[in-house]
Amino acid sequence: MSEQRIAVVRTQEPDTTPHPTPHTGTGTDAGAGTGAVAVAHPNIALIKYWGKRDEHLVLPRTDSLSMTLDIFPTTTRVRLAPGAGRDAVVLGGRPAEGEALRRIVTFLDLVRQTARVPHRAVVESENTVPTGAGLASSASGFAALAVAAAGAYGLSLTATGLSRLARRGSGSASRSIFGGFAVWHAGRPGQDTKAADLGSYAEPVPVADLDPALVVAVVDAGPKDISSRAAMRRTVDTSPLYEPWAASSRDDLTGMRAALLRGDLQVVGEIAERNALGMHATMLAARPAVRYLSPATLTVLDAVGQLRRDGVAAYATMDAGPNVKVLCRRREADRVAQSVREAAAGGAVHIAGPGPGARLLPKGGR
Ligand code: PMV
Repeated sequence: MSEQRIAVVRTQEPDTTPHPTPHTGTGTDAGAGTGAVAVAHPNIALIKYWGKRDEHLVLPRTDSLSMTLDIFPTTTRVRLAPGAGRDAVVLGGRPAEGEALRRIVTFLDLVRQTARVPHRAVVESENTVPTGAGLASSASGFAALAVAAAGAYGLSLTATGLSRLARRGSGSASRSIFGGFAVWHAGRPGQDTKAADLGSYAEPVPVADLDPALVVAVVDAGPKDISSRAAMRRTVDTSPLYEPWAASSRDDLTGMRAALLRGDLQVVGEIAERNALGMHATMLAARPAVRYLSPATLTVLDAVGQLRRDGVAAYATMDAGPNVKVLCRRREADRVAQSVREAAAGGAVHIAGPGPGARLLPKGGR
């Protein structure tokens, strides 16, 4: 159902420009009842974001770098509801409740406060990625919500401003505002609130011809036991490995940016894999330990190691869940997918390329 609706949207708006700049803020929708519709794709971090220095502003401790995917889009419509007493949020056809609803209402409160428009809203969102399984559903979700809400409330924001706004919903969403590769700047610590907020945003990263693909192995599509928010807080507070990883991650970013510029997929992959394994090591050393990796994850990691021994450039990265994303060359993606599929024992395998940034759809977009 959700795939179908997105297909309809694409038919009406066949613009497949790889790095479109999101545009919002016409203001013409505010209060008109039609609202605004936006689409955004998930991103996978090659240099991870793990740990906040400010929970309220969602300011990270380290910079991170990601690739936005061309699969699993989220489409979100926001309509103003003048006179309504509360926001109505429907996710995948079902009314949102609990923590998911609270996060979206808090985000809409921020938009209302910034736009100085008090109206409640109706939010309808369709996600094509399994939610809560470490597959970046919150990144595409909050990027689409930021662009749609900014459009509906008449907030005129640049792409950088949208990235800051999306960050407040979910840190990784700041990167999904942009297509291709994006770096999210942590900003400088010790500044006042306004300066700190302004200093933390994502922007596109220059990349030479890399021909990359990410093979996504879904070994478990169920929701995770512990949210990334809670897990990163525990890791920062209790893991003796956290600070060493954060320090090495800064070096990893420098090396990765240089490797992207010269189109060196092997070095990009080596750095991505060690950065991700290091992040999981910090969690395993937390007290009590946070373990997202499962036996199936390790089986896929073995397959990736075997691919490398067979001469295929393939490198794994894992997020807040057991699923594995394998960076490789697009022309070798089918072979990688085949090996990973055998190892994933029945789990779904998807091949993704670099995808577009978040964007507002034309009126009546679905
Ligand atoms: O944006 P959040 O709170 O869902 O955190 C995402 C954290 C990781 O996916 C594990 C890493 C990253 O940089 O995306």
